[in-house]
Amino acid sequence: MISVITGAGAGIGAAAAVELSRRGHQVILVGRTPARVAAVADRLAVSGPRPHVLTCDYTNLDDVRKLAAEIRDRYSRIDVLVNNAGVMTTRRTSTLNGHEMIMQVNHLAPFLLTTLLLDRLAAGRVVTTSSQAGKTGRLDPDDLDRNRRRWSGWLQYGDSKQANALFTVELARRGIAATCFHPGVIKTGFAGGTLFMKLVHRVPGLGDTPENGAATMVHLATHPDGVRHSGRYFAKCAPAAHPKSMTDPALARRLWDVSHSLVNR
Ligand SMILES: NC(=O)c1ccc[n+]([C@@H]2O[C@H](COP(=O)([O-])OP(=O)(O)OC[C@H]3O[C@@H](n4cnc5c(N)ncnc54)[C@H](OP(=O)(O)O)[C@@H]3O)[C@@H](O)[C@H]2O)c1
Repeated sequence: MISVITGAGAGIGAAAAVELSRRGHQVILVGRTPARVAAVADRLAVSGPRPHVLTCDYTNLDDVRKLAAEIRDRYSRIDVLVNNAGVMTTRRTSTLNGHEMIMQVNHLAPFLLTTLLLDRLAAGRVVTTSSQAGKTGRLDPDDLDRNRRRWSGWLQYGDSKQANALFTVELARRGIAATCFHPGVIKTGFAGGTLFMKLVHRVPGLGDTPENGAATMVHLATHPDGVRHSGRYFAKCAPAAHPKSMTDPALARRLWDVSHSLVNR
């Protein structure tokens, strides 16, 4: 099984890479910071072949196109694409491409990568790390960057994780086995410096381990659930309830069309 994992240099993605590799997958590690993703590759190389490492910064869509081309050159099929790289920051910034950074990193870049790899994924599956924060999302396809509405890091993060679920719905409608999931509240570098994550790291019992955070990802990458529940949102390795805002097929199609035009400008 050939499995591409983004955000593989840290946290949940690194833990999933270790577990999928242990289960015999040929993992391709995609990371932003070369030293971090190389360190994960070194860990895997102790007990198996050294994985293929690729680097990409999602704040640059040309970098994402280059990543897709590198993967396409080397692999004629992909069994699992794990869209896991993600970010939350309380400071608003714009990318090289002129998009609000959280929406580009969490939605537009994985949208571009996935759509550039669709033919390679025809018999594979896509697993996307969403979040229960998506339930608070108020995504407006005509204002993905929140230029016309109030911006806060958590509001925008919620919109981007709602987008992950809607992208999953539309991928499934287009015949790709796609699922998304909430990993739990996990002690990683995610949202570093926020009061919430400071509490998660300091209050005993509040946050879980990256390995447990990766459990649902690994389940969806390996178990028949990742195909037979295509389009669904999971938590704790089972389909989970989520609001219409994360499942609405009309909103999902509209988001696809808008995202397509934004990344192909
Ligand atoms: N931790 C939680 O409680 C929690 C809860 C719900 C959902 N999630 C989601 O879980 C996923 C993984 O997060 P995590 O908790 O494992 O946090 P993490 O340790 O911070 O990992 C995030 C990964 O995303 C990568 N990344 C960030 N910005 C990027 C960019 N511009 N281009 C490419 N890659 C970038 C990071 O690369 P670097 O290593 O270079 O920084 C890192 O590998 C994210 O999608 C997050 O939204 C996390």
